[in-house]
Amino acid sequence: MKDGNDLSRKKTIWVTGAGSGIGAALVRSLVADGHFVIVSGRSRDALLEVQKPAPKLVRVLSCDVGDDASMASAGAALREITDQLDMVIACAGVCEYDDNLSLDVDSYRRVFDANFFGVVNTLREALPLLANAREPVFAAVGSLSSVVGFPRAEAYGASKAALQYFMDAVRADTSRLPLRTVLIRPGFIETPLTRENDFNMPFLMSPEDAADRILAGLKTRKAVIDFPRRLSWPLRLLGMLRPVWFGWCAPRMTRIKKLRRAG
Ligand SMILES: NC(=O)c1ccc[n+]([C@@H]2O[C@H](COP(=O)([O-])OP(=O)(O)OC[C@H]3O[C@@H](n4cnc5c(N)ncnc54)[C@H](OP(=O)(O)O)[C@@H]3O)[C@@H](O)[C@H]2O)c1
Repeated sequence: MKDGNDLSRKKTIWVTGAGSGIGAALVRSLVADGHFVIVSGRSRDALLEVQKPAPKLVRVLSCDVGDDASMASAGAALREITDQLDMVIACAGVCEYDDNLSLDVDSYRRVFDANFFGVVNTLREALPLLANAREPVFAAVGSLSSVVGFPRAEAYGASKAALQYFMDAVRADTSRLPLRTVLIRPGFIETPLTRENDFNMPFLMSPEDAADRILAGLKTRKAVIDFPRRLSWPLRLLGMLRPVWFGWCAPRMTRIKKLRRAG
């Protein structure tokens, strides 16, 4: 019998970006609840660390979500582990800021490969297995940064905004099916991704708190899980009051004082 088909376990769940931060915290919580979790990321060593406390409930499946060939092999390996997936949480992601509006296309591609195409690849490999579950859930981790345009976040915020549209379109396309799609938009969480941030991060939360909010939200019928509310509400309001955001907030946040001149 495939490990993922063992009915003594509660649910079979695939988490990408599970080697650190929010993903690793989600896995710890899911395993504590008795679920069987397949963990993915590029660093096998990091995934093995996550597996250590619960080797029977965690299976390591290393892959690069942005690499189509790597994801095709991961999909084949996934089908060896299980015939069905009850839930997928596509959490893998990277952040690169565009300082000085340098518009370095390689950096934009790296960010889109992980944050946008990574989710497309994950859904493609997961969909036939989700189709075998009774109440399947596909959740992807976006960001509150997609609510308004943040300075330096041209690549990161755009990748998350693209993901948001993608998740809406998938939701529309599957609206007659049992598949539930959920977009998760966290605020600032203390993880390796934000470690280098040299600016004030309001309402910074621990990955454990983030995982609790996500798992509580996934138990409801919500299609979008935004948190913390004390950040998401003001941002959503500012997203509507665009003259205030661009006329008052943005000038206080941008670091660009002049453009590079030709010649
Ligand atoms: N931290 C925040 O404030 C915050 C806020 C909003 C949204 N988010 C989102 O939350 C998600 C998790 O981020 P985090 O904060 O927990 O940061 P993190 O600790 O850096 O986790 C990101 C994980 O994604 C994996 N990953 C990155 N690129 C990958 C790829 N191409 N293929 C497979 N795995 C890949 C990384 O592992 P490997 O390097 O080993 O592959 C890492 O374990 C991301 O999507 C991020 O954009 C974070």
